[in-house]
Amino acid sequence: MSLRLNSPEARDAASQMHPMVNLRAYEQTGGMVIESGEGIYVFDSTGKRYIEGMAGLWSVAVGFSEPRLKEAAAAQMGKLPYYHTFSYKTHGPSIDLAEKLLSMMPVPMSKVHFTSSGSEANDLTCKMVWYRSNALGLKDKKKIIGREKGYHGVTIAAGSITGLSRNHESFDLPLDRMHHTSCPSFVHFGRPGETEAEFTQRMLNDLEDLILREGPETIAAFWGEPVMGAGGVLIPPPGYWAGVQAILRKHDILLVADEVICGFGRTGKMFGCETLGIEPDVIVVSKQISSSYLPISAIIVNDNFYQPIADESARLGVFGHGFTASGHPVAAAVALENLAIIEERGLVQNAADLAGRFAAGLETLAGHELCASSRSVGLLGALELAPWEGMAAGSAAAALAAAAQEEGVIVRNVGEAVCFCPPMIITAAQIDDMFAGIARGLDAVARQRAAEATAAAE
Ligand SMILES: Cc1ncc(COP(=O)(O)O)c(C=O)c1O
Repeated sequence: MSLRLNSPEARDAASQMHPMVNLRAYEQTGGMVIESGEGIYVFDSTGKRYIEGMAGLWSVAVGFSEPRLKEAAAAQMGKLPYYHTFSYKTHGPSIDLAEKLLSMMPVPMSKVHFTSSGSEANDLTCKMVWYRSNALGLKDKKKIIGREKGYHGVTIAAGSITGLSRNHESFDLPLDRMHHTSCPSFVHFGRPGETEAEFTQRMLNDLEDLILREGPETIAAFWGEPVMGAGGVLIPPPGYWAGVQAILRKHDILLVADEVICGFGRTGKMFGCETLGIEPDVIVVSKQISSSYLPISAIIVNDNFYQPIADESARLGVFGHGFTASGHPVAAAVALENLAIIEERGLVQNAADLAGRFAAGLETLAGHELCASSRSVGLLGALELAPWEGMAAGSAAAALAAAAQEEGVIVRNVGEAVCFCPPMIITAAQIDDMFAGIARGLDAVARQRAAEATAAAE
């Protein structure tokens, strides 16, 4: 693509340094300008319509044009557009949202602390884990275990818990205190001849071996997404989470559930912890809490986690942490309205009801000559491609994502997979439309591949 002088694409490429792109390539290609949204669709600057098969970044539960969120923001803007929650001050929207979140929790929780992004929430949770260990006089209990392919954000601590090399390389991450155990994706890491049950046991052995090698008294917490999202929608096998929790309890290690993608219905229950049978000490939420209309995230902690931290702040005189935007009143008001809509419209039930159709659609696509398999839970899924001879790693899925975009469906390629996470307001007919676009994209890639093979043979 050559950039037209003074076009939005050219002005963008000249002025912005974008996340998750090849910055040098971006200078030449620019990006796609998205101009508006309606329901599950977004529109580019030429007016072309796309099904947003990823709900933006796994986040827009209620679609891209919800008037009630606009009204909630405007009303709060009119009343109190900003106030903070530092230094013995608070405000209504943060109080209401904290209470609401506590009432929704799948396990008894004690307190909520607000942040503005998933990364911030995980980063601060990590600091709280260290603060708590110090409070308990456990000065050596500071190490954190994440998982290979886990994603918890990109700030220094959260990025260190993340287990993806692209988020570490040249950033001098991970920090020394962070360790990573094996990724429990049987499709990707199962060995030839290994049963799923044997694989699960190997994953659990890997975790316990790591704990014993490092010394259980040095390990403070384990971090996990109930279902791994950004790593490629990786669904753990039955028995995995029960086994992990037994090991953590045995060695007195805290469990932090990162519900940033799974939370608020994505897996067909309100929280991924319910779908996967997880009872964590801390739950981190973001994204679908406000459908990402405004940035807000939250750390929700149980009493066992909270009490030593409160004692330490009393000893020091202050809990020395906070952001200017912690509990921002407009973001909190929008989140409250968004949660009300999710409940009133039964969107969690919608995800549960449509899960079968979504899974069946993916399974049908998996029968295509370019595909290997599919997987899904609720309205979160992936189609695994079978890269052909001579294909560079990841380029088959990248080709499909590009072809799907041509066909009017936006999806995300991760490794050899293409991921799906549509807005939770999606209907059965719209799921069919989305997968029809993917089928056309697959055919286009297959035709291209055949043409290339013919050209190479001539
Ligand atoms: C599970 C999980 N945790 C944390 C994050 C980081 O959130 P943010 O991009 O808001 O910092 C993400 C983002 O995709 C995520 O998927």
